[in-house]
Amino acid sequence: MTTKRYQFFDQNPVLPNVIEEIKLGLRETPKRISPKYFYDAHGSALFEQITRLPEYYLTRTEISILNQNKEELSQIIDKSCCLIEYGSGSSKKVRLLIDAIDPQFYVPVDISKEHLHQSARAIHDDFDSLHVYPTCADYTTAVALPDVIDGAPRCGFFPGSSIGNFEREDALRFLTNLRRDIGPGGYCIIGFDSRKPKRILEPAYNDAKGVTASFNLNLLTHLNRTLGTDFDPLGFRHHSFYDEALGRIEMHLVSKSAQNVTLDGETFHFSCDESIHTENSYKYSLMEVKELAQKSGMSFVTHWEDSQGWFYVVLLQAPDTTASGDD
Ligand code: AVI
Repeated sequence: MTTKRYQFFDQNPVLPNVIEEIKLGLRETPKRISPKYFYDAHGSALFEQITRLPEYYLTRTEISILNQNKEELSQIIDKSCCLIEYGSGSSKKVRLLIDAIDPQFYVPVDISKEHLHQSARAIHDDFDSLHVYPTCADYTTAVALPDVIDGAPRCGFFPGSSIGNFEREDALRFLTNLRRDIGPGGYCIIGFDSRKPKRILEPAYNDAKGVTASFNLNLLTHLNRTLGTDFDPLGFRHHSFYDEALGRIEMHLVSKSAQNVTLDGETFHFSCDESIHTENSYKYSLMEVKELAQKSGMSFVTHWEDSQGWFYVVLLQAPDTTASGDD
């Protein structure tokens, strides 16, 4: 048996000027702050709680789809492959996939160095003969993958409906980049949350226990702690709704009164009921998934869904030639 290797690749992703980014968003009408600021340690723990809520069907549905179809997946995906996971928070799902496919390499890609190192180490410890090459990079832009995986067939993995947090054109850019990462003939497995009635979608983003509300409001506490803003988290309330025409859940933080907030010497005025748009979570019909795949230059191989059609696990393949798509 060959010794399993672990090597950390730091591609030194360009980190945003957070203060400038937040100020720009707060100067806009409507005001907005990126959902990436949900995820400090407390926000990540709250998200973990969300994934276990009865109303938030996404995580358990995707896991059960993967579980039920892992045999079929393992027959399609090459055992000698390199599994590339974009974002490295979904340990349970990727473990299930590693068990089923038994890949040669695992390359988790994430911008957060600490978190990446921890989760990649844990996977390295738990699997015999799996080479683990965590790569610190911003996967919303083109990623330089380590050349130690050159020559191995590749399979990308982007679970959890994380693709739904991209604007539709950004989802296309992401998939086009991913197609280049996996190379000719490579596969990718992507989780999409399906379009469905409001009565199912809205409670998933406005649960009875108020965990999603705390998750949304924690963004303000996070900014207060890291940037020195003076948001009063009690002065805002969580608001989310499904926009059926756009096929997206919107999350907002709504100011309960007229108030001012300061950041880096600049004052931002909120009128009563004015909101900060904090997240979009796009839902996809199967037709929209197929269109997206086609525009990205990949073919739609197959998909698996639960009995209610609430979630799609989609398998796409890059064409077997380099002369494809819109390069
Ligand atoms: C991470 N992402 C896929 C979640 C979603 O469903 O859009 C984030 C989330 N926001 C509120 N609840 C969960």
